Amino acid sequence: MLEDTSFAIRPIDQLDEKEVWQPLGDVQKIEGKKQIFAFTCENASGKIHFYRDDIVRITIDPFAQKYASVSPAVVAAPEKVTMHVQEVENGWELKTNALTVVIERRPFRITVYDREGKVLVRDVEPVRFQAKGRMRCAHALAPTDVVYGLGEKTGVLNKRGAVWKMWNTDVYAPHNLETDPLYQSHPYMMVLKDGHAHGVFFDHTYETTFDLRHESFYTFTSEGGALDYYVFAGPHPKDVLGQYTHLVGRMPLPPKWALGYHQSRYSYETEQEVRELIDTFRKKHIPLDAVYLDIHYMDEYRVFTFDQNRFPHPKSLVQYASEQGVRIVPIVDPGVKVDAEYDTYRDGVQKDYFCKYADGTLFKGDVWPGTSVFPDFLKKKVRKWWGEQHAFYTSIGIEGIWNDMNEPSVFNETKTMDDQVVHDGWKTHRQVHNIYGMMMTEATYNGLKKQLKGKRPFVLTRAGFSGIHRYAAVWTGDNRSFWEHLELSLPMCLNLGLSAVAFCGADVGGFAHDAHGGLLVRWTQVGAFFPYFRNHCAIGFARQEPWAFGETYEQMVKRYIELRYEWLPHLYTLCFEAYQTGVPMMRPLMLEYPDDAETWNISDQFMVGNEVMIAPVMRPHTFHRLVYFPKGRWIDYWTKEKFEGGRRYIVEAPLDRLPIFVKEGAMIARAEAKQSTSIADEQLTLYVYTMEEGISSYTLYDDDGTTFAYEKGEYVNMHIRATFSDDAVHFEIEREGAYKPPWQLHVVFVGDVPSTIVVNGERCIIDEATNTFVL
Ligand code: GLC
Repeated sequence: MLEDTSFAIRPIDQLDEKEVWQPLGDVQKIEGKKQIFAFTCENASGKIHFYRDDIVRITIDPFAQKYASVSPAVVAAPEKVTMHVQEVENGWELKTNALTVVIERRPFRITVYDREGKVLVRDVEPVRFQAKGRMRCAHALAPTDVVYGLGEKTGVLNKRGAVWKMWNTDVYAPHNLETDPLYQSHPYMMVLKDGHAHGVFFDHTYETTFDLRHESFYTFTSEGGALDYYVFAGPHPKDVLGQYTHLVGRMPLPPKWALGYHQSRYSYETEQEVRELIDTFRKKHIPLDAVYLDIHYMDEYRVFTFDQNRFPHPKSLVQYASEQGVRIVPIVDPGVKVDAEYDTYRDGVQKDYFCKYADGTLFKGDVWPGTSVFPDFLKKKVRKWWGEQHAFYTSIGIEGIWNDMNEPSVFNETKTMDDQVVHDGWKTHRQVHNIYGMMMTEATYNGLKKQLKGKRPFVLTRAGFSGIHRYAAVWTGDNRSFWEHLELSLPMCLNLGLSAVAFCGADVGGFAHDAHGGLLVRWTQVGAFFPYFRNHCAIGFARQEPWAFGETYEQMVKRYIELRYEWLPHLYTLCFEAYQTGVPMMRPLMLEYPDDAETWNISDQFMVGNEVMIAPVMRPHTFHRLVYFPKGRWIDYWTKEKFEGGRRYIVEAPLDRLPIFVKEGAMIARAEAKQSTSIADEQLTLYVYTMEEGISSYTLYDDDGTTFAYEKGEYVNMHIRATFSDDAVHFEIEREGAYKPPWQLHVVFVGDVPSTIVVNGERCIIDEATNTFVL
C-alpha cells in the first residue's frame, strides 16, 4: 500500500518572486526501456533512471540540453535492476525491491516511496523553470522531519529553519550560526523521518539554494542546468551513506601519518624556525607527525618556489624533519603570479592553460602574490600539468600538500572569478565555480600519487564539492579562537561526515584572534577525536603551540595529543570502515540511534565509531556538563563510573578531563603513546569493557600505513567476537588478510574479570602480574 499523498498537495505560490516561473505542463508520453523511463511533458523532457534497487536518478530538462551537466561528483555506473512497471489511474508506477516511483500525468508530478510505501520525496507542486535556466522544485517534508548533511554549513546539526546556499566562498569575517555560504558545496541532504532515513542529492554545479524554513515542504532552486537529482532509499542512515558513497565514491585510506598530530601556523617563516619547532616538540616529548609551511615559504608567494633567504635548504629541512618522524606539508594556492620571468606563469601562458574570457583575454585577479592568473582545472591536460609541477616538492621528499584559496578566492568585490570567464572552451565560471577547487585537488592528488610511486599522498583542501573526499581531507577554514567556534566545529564536521567527507577537522585553537590556555586545552581535547587533527593559527595573533600558555596548560595539551596516539589503532580501524562503507568515524548520535528522537538534535556530543561517545566541555570556566546517554549501559573512560542509558546526567569535567564514555561490552584496541606514527607498535592492547551477559564484536584493522598494498589484500582484519555469560567470556577470533602486523595483541578487562576465559575453544590463563593475556 502506498501512503496517501493528498496531505502534501498545497500551492506554494506565496514563495514566488516577481519573476515568472513556467510549469513543465502535463506528461504527454512515457517510454520505458529496462530501467530507464523517458518522458516528455509539454515544456520539457526527462528521465527516471534506476541506478540500483535503492538509488533512482530523476532528470528534468526544459532547456534541450543547453545547460548540460559537467558535475564530477558521480563515479558509479548504473547496475542492472529488476523492475515492475504498471500504468495506474493518472500515470505510471515504477517499482523495484526498495523504491517505487509514481509519475502523475496531469499535472506532471513525481512521488518516490520506500519499500513500505512511505513517501520519501513528493513534488508538492509541479516543478517550474525560468527561460534563463533557473529551476525550482518543492518537496514535501513533515514538520517533524530532520534534515542533515549539506556538507560544510554553520548552524546546528539539524539544518531546518534556514536557507542554505551552495556557492564556494571565502568568508574571513567571524563565522556565526548563519554565515552562509562557506568554502564547500554539497547539495545533498539526509532526511530522517520517524527514525527512517533517506537521501537526496541534487547534482548541480551552478549556485543552488535549499530553503528549509517551511513547515511542510522545502524548495530547491538551481541557477542553471536541468533538474538532476538522486534519491537514496535508506532506511537506516548508514544505508543512506552507503548508497550515496556508492554513487560519489569513498575516501581512500590516508597515510597513517595524516592521522597524527599536525602543527601549523601562518607562517613558520624560516627553515630555522621549523627546525626549532620540531626540536621543541621532541625535547618536550610531545608527539608530532607534520608541520605545515604557509605562504611565507615561497618566493613572493609564487607557487612551486622556495624563498632563497628564508628556506635556502628545503631538501635538508625535509630530510631533518623526516629523521624526527615529521612530514613537511607546504601550502599550494591556485593563483599564479603574473611575472614574465616566472617559469610557471610563462609555461602556463605558452601552453594556454589559464582561465580566459570568451574574447581570449586572460582573467587576472589579486590574491596573495598580487595580480595572478588561474589554471583552468576543468581541462584534463591542465590538471595533468599542474600535477606534474608537484615534482618540485616530491623530489625533495614531500608527501603532503595543502590546497587553499581554491574556491577560487579573489580579493575583489565578488570574492571570486568573474562569472563570464570560460573554462575548458565553453563552460562559464557561473556553471563550474563550485567544482573549481575539487578539480584542483584532483590534479594535486593524482600528481602526487604518480610521483610518490606507491606511497599514499595526503592532500588537505579548503574548497570542495560532493565527491571531494576521493582526493582530500577537508578543514573548515578560517575559524576564530572563540568558544563559539569550538562549539560550531562539531555540527560542521558531523554534517561533513554525513555528506561523505569522513576525513575532516577544524583549526584546533582557532585560526584568527588570540587563543588562551583554557581554550587550547578544551579544543585539543576535542580535536584529538576529530578525524583530522591540526593546530593552526593566523599571522599577528597569539602563538598557540602546545607550550604557548605555560607549563600547566602544556601538560594538559600534551596529554591529549598523547591520547590521540593511544587511540590511533581504533581511529585507523574506523578509517578503514569509512573507506569500505562510507560511514564516517566521527558520528552524530542519531547515526547510531536513529530510533531515539532524543538524539536527533544533539549537536554538542558525538560518537567515535559505534561504542564511544565524546561529550566535550566547550564553555569557559565550566567544569561539568549535561550529557545524554542513549540506551544501554555506559562506562566513564576515566573513573569507570557506570551510567544507565535513556537519560541525562550531569558529569564532572575538570579542565584536564574530556568526558569520554564507552559502551558496556565494547572492545577497543589502543596503543602506547609515541612520538610519531613512523614508530611501529610492538604491542596493542584490546580493552574489553566486560558485561554480565551478551555478545559483542570488534574488528581491528591494520596495514603498512603507507602504501596501496591494502587494495590487494595486504592488510589484517582481526574479527573478534566475545560472548559473556555466567562469569565466563568466550572469544572467537578470525584473522583475514595477508598482512603480518608488527604487534602482539594483549587483552585487558575493564570491569569484572570473568573467571573463565576461552579463546577459540581453548582455556586461557591470565598473567597474574600484568593481569593481561595475549590473543
Ligand atoms: C587562508 C587560509 C588559512 C591560511 C591563510 C594564509 O586564510 O584559510 O588557513 O593560513 O590563508 O595562507
